[in-house]
Amino acid sequence: MRDLLAGPTLPQLICIVVFCCVSWLLLSLRKSLSKPRPRSVAILVLGDVGRSPRMMYHAESFAKLRFETFLVGYEGSKPVPTLLSLPHVHFLYLSQPPPFLRKLPFIVSAPIKILQQVLTILYALLWRIPCPPEFILVQNPPSIPTLALVWLVGALRGSKVIIDWHNLGYSILALKLGSDHIFVKLAKMFEAYFGRAAHVHLFVTQAMHGFLVKEWKLQGLKAVLHDRPPAHFHPATAFEIHELFLRISPSLPVAFLPPHDPPASTPLTRVTSSASPSLRPDRPAVLVSSTSWTEDEDFSILLDALSIYEQRARAAHGRLPRVLMFVTGKGPLREPYMRKARSLQDGEGDPWQWVHITSTWLEPGDYPLLLGSADLGISLHSSSSALDLPMKIVDMFGCGVPVCALDFACLSELVIDGTNGVIFQNATGLVDHLENLLEGFPNALNLESLRASFRLAIDRRSISSREDEGWVWNSWDDNWTRVVRPLVLPDVHGIFELEVNDTRTRC
Ligand SMILES: *[C@@H]1O[C@H](CO)[C@@H](O)[C@H](O)[C@H]1NC(C)=O
Ligand SMILES: *[C@@H]1O[C@H](CO)[C@@H](O)[C@H](O)[C@H]1NC(C)=O
Ligand SMILES: *[C@@H]1O[C@H](CO)[C@@H](O)[C@H](O)[C@H]1NC(C)=O
Repeated sequence: MRDLLAGPTLPQLICIVVFCCVSWLLLSLRKSLSKPRPRSVAILVLGDVGRSPRMMYHAESFAKLRFETFLVGYEGSKPVPTLLSLPHVHFLYLSQPPPFLRKLPFIVSAPIKILQQVLTILYALLWRIPCPPEFILVQNPPSIPTLALVWLVGALRGSKVIIDWHNLGYSILALKLGSDHIFVKLAKMFEAYFGRAAHVHLFVTQAMHGFLVKEWKLQGLKAVLHDRPPAHFHPATAFEIHELFLRISPSLPVAFLPPHDPPASTPLTRVTSSASPSLRPDRPAVLVSSTSWTEDEDFSILLDALSIYEQRARAAHGRLPRVLMFVTGKGPLREPYMRKARSLQDGEGDPWQWVHITSTWLEPGDYPLLLGSADLGISLHSSSSALDLPMKIVDMFGCGVPVCALDFACLSELVIDGTNGVIFQNATGLVDHLENLLEGFPNALNLESLRASFRLAIDRRSISSREDEGWVWNSWDDNWTRVVRPLVLPDVHGIFELEVNDTRTRC
């Protein structure tokens, strides 16, 4: 332990101090020389850039307005392809904390890790971006240390700060530690202090907007921008379902599914004489839930509901379909819950016949296809702050799939009970909805009427933007242009004014 401490930290400490002094000097020098460059933005995500869809859409929206767009974050999953092809987007990846930290005890490694993060972020924002950006957009949470750094860089370089409030960092910490823990209180003070003043605050829900404005007295412009799924999320065609199930059905239990003979048929589809696949009438109903398997999702509700469904389906004499339940996602509680699921469905001498739960691993590209193939989505999300909305429902809606969602405070900003989904409070509520929606499947009238809402919502959007005619599902671009664009380009109205003035590239 002593050796580990004495080895790497002392020389590092000296380097850090020298680095700080030198950068400070150069910084003051540069600051007097350069002003923020108009129409440029740094977007900071303290996480895997490729797994931060919302920040990638912001980047795309800015880049389409010809902002020089610098995305700062960790390298991991592949970013969305459109982003890679836009000319004004630059990826600045942060280096990962050195691996030896993992061997140190938390109390030692945590401060070193934060220090390393602070330095790499400052280095990226102050040096790797050549001219001070006009805007710095930061995702919150994580709040520590990003909010403070962005605040500092904003003050030093004159950049305007935009905070995109996805959730509250301290409320996530409180899930682990309890809300009375001293760390949670400190985190809350930090977040409230450094989050208070910004040029623009964006919120993922109206509820978060209301709460923060009231509680923390936020200063700056404020706007709500709901989440939307990536553009390639769409209802799957029979052909896509066929292709997907050719790939994944080998991992599904043969006995449970209707007989199939790839490549001519899959559990859901069959190639008919016309040579294009179509959905088969004896298919099971496909339900899908995606989760990050964390404490804020109580999966036992789903397991209880499916146990009851199994009993009801046995007694229903064919009125209810078989249910193939996909649960996607990775996370800490996956193993315990899936073990429980397996032991339930294996029964004790009496295995389930009407329900099968599987947590098949999917290629990332298959996730939207699976959602698009589903008949119904299930969300067990309950928010740590009760102020954010589950992205998985947004994704399902993008695929035209209605949802059964566990109720929580601001769910009504997304799910309209009886129009695009149904809402439940507990396992009995869920199984009642399942029975009601799936009865008569594949000709399930109640389910069909929910699914029809999506076709209408999309039609309404293309015909008119009036909101009094019923539910409209508008896109990220629609609202970004309407809500955010006027905040970042207040003086530019026509597209011709976007033409790049070459002189501005000097810095
Ligand atoms: C766009 O704005 C409308 C009206 O404010 C809202 O209902 C809708 O959810 C918003 N969509 C997005 C993507 O923010
Ligand atoms: C389940 O929720 C319903 C409302 O949807 C409620 O009437 C019922 O009492 C709840 N059951 C339990 C066991 O809490
Ligand atoms: C471009 O910018 C320069 C300096 O800011 C300004 O003098 C010039 O008028 C601009 N040109 C156009 C076409 O806007």
